[in-house]
Amino acid sequence: MSEGTIAIAADHAGYALKEDLKADLLERGVTVLDLGTDDDNSVDYPDFGKAVGEAIASGRASQGVIICGTGIGISIAANRIAGVRAALCHDATTARLAREHNDANVLALGARILGLEVARDCLRAFLDGQYPGGERHDRRVGKLG
Ligand code: RB5
Repeated sequence: MSEGTIAIAADHAGYALKEDLKADLLERGVTVLDLGTDDDNSVDYPDFGKAVGEAIASGRASQGVIICGTGIGISIAANRIAGVRAALCHDATTARLAREHNDANVLALGARILGLEVARDCLRAFLDGQYPGGERHDRRVGKLG
């Protein structure tokens, strides 16, 4: 895939993992749009899922990474924005298949569920994964709206 700008955001539960994954993205040469949060003070995950979703919808970012405690709440929030396909992934396989089958444009992770190295595996697999297109996948992804 072409790695354009990647928006990243997390709530307080995901803040530390966001910082680690942001460093990995920057090391990879990716342009990162960090939409917060900026410390581990308690915040509301919907605000951060929405921020990344809106960055995708507006074209400010081509892909996103969102993190909360479970990854559930923040992925629900992002998926309410039209054009966002946020996939909650738990390992490299789900992250790869989220790209290959669903053309997912946002990777959602649960910081209280995954260890750091598994989260890094997810990020690498998501970035390296390719959506192959084709009639079958295009039809199904199209039905997601
Ligand atoms: C915050 O305590 C927690 O509820 C949040 O990070 C997330 O897991 C929600 O889905």
